[in-house]
Amino acid sequence: MAKLGLAVGTSARFSCFFSNKSDAGSGRATRLGWILFPANPRCSSLATRWTAAAAAAVEAPPRSVDMGCAPVPREQVEIVQSLNGWVAENMLPLLNPVESSWQPHDFLPCSVAAPGASEEEALSAFTEGVAALRMGAAGVPDEILVCLVGNMVTEEALPSYQSMGNRTEGTADDTGASSLPWAQWIRGWTAEENRHGDLLNRYLYLSGRVDMRQVETTVHHLLRNGMEMLVPKSPYHSVIYGAFQERATFVSHVHTARLAGQHGDQALAKICGVIAADEKRHEAGYTRVCAKLFEVDPDGMVRALAHVMRGKVTMPGLLMSDGRDADGSLFERFSAVAQRAGVYTARDYGDLVEHFVRRWRVAELAGLSGEGRRAQEYVCGLPPKIRRMEELAHQRAARSELRPARFSWIFDRHVMVG
Ligand SMILES: [Fe+2]
Ligand SMILES: [Fe+2]
Repeated sequence: MAKLGLAVGTSARFSCFFSNKSDAGSGRATRLGWILFPANPRCSSLATRWTAAAAAAVEAPPRSVDMGCAPVPREQVEIVQSLNGWVAENMLPLLNPVESSWQPHDFLPCSVAAPGASEEEALSAFTEGVAALRMGAAGVPDEILVCLVGNMVTEEALPSYQSMGNRTEGTADDTGASSLPWAQWIRGWTAEENRHGDLLNRYLYLSGRVDMRQVETTVHHLLRNGMEMLVPKSPYHSVIYGAFQERATFVSHVHTARLAGQHGDQALAKICGVIAADEKRHEAGYTRVCAKLFEVDPDGMVRALAHVMRGKVTMPGLLMSDGRDADGSLFERFSAVAQRAGVYTARDYGDLVEHFVRRWRVAELAGLSGEGRRAQEYVCGLPPKIRRMEELAHQRAARSELRPARFSWIFDRHVMVG
């Protein structure tokens, strides 16, 4: 899972976005799907919210305490539980066997002696490997480093995401070692995800390009702050969210791989590429189970999808803090850099929504309740609205001047954002 997630604020803010009202001069930030566009970075309501989040990052418990836990309809839990056999046949095969899986060590300089080699030879080979890695990393521009760190920090908060899976009714791993297929999926998925943060972390450490202590501090804060879900125990919301997250993460890692390659770091391109391939398999799993649930309970699923699209879906890394962002703006700055660098953009978000609406054949769903039909209409109308907003955001960005955004991750250097 990971990384750039669905960033949607309050319903009021979201409807403001979709009502096409311009935020210019209103002091409001506009969130366009996964990307946040600050209309006025100095006085946005979101900034206020994030300032509170940043303060909470230091001492107080995370904000999720005020989210509440909406009850999950019993029949939805039972439907999801009834799919255990289906999960075994259609999702578990998407997880690779451990013995044929890649491991972070495969993509990093080897730190141990080859059979028969002396300690001096091993150290020399390791040093050469690190030197080659650093030579490749030397050409990676700051904006790509910032995106890479943001992605790595989000990957490293994996314990929060596994907790999320085990909070979901009907799919949770109740014993910690349950043999039920849903539980096997959660543990297998976690095990594959665990390699992503490990690999990116070690690459960044060896590269010498980032302030590793600040990066680690950000991971520490994010794990303490956690993440919040709109309907924390709902299996329908959870699998829809998973599909969006995995596809967004895939896109983000693919774009980072391409940019790393363009700047001469083939090792980093390969690293991001193998991670992206994992995300693609995970996306396939969540997408498949959503399609199955749309068959079994189209009304429940389309209402859940509309709720996810409208509601407060939290980005996994939203509560990140480096301990120095007194204005709580770190995530906003990271998102702005990702947008400008082309690592994850508003257009990508529009593509994503369009893709899933088509893939799950939302427009063709029949036999819906009144609420289901309204949800269907809303969801099917989203892609063109997002495209229009994307266009407006582009026009606004073209008119506005670039501004510098500072990142402690890169020794307080600035990156220009729109
Ligand atoms: Fe993933
Ligand atoms: Fe991941």
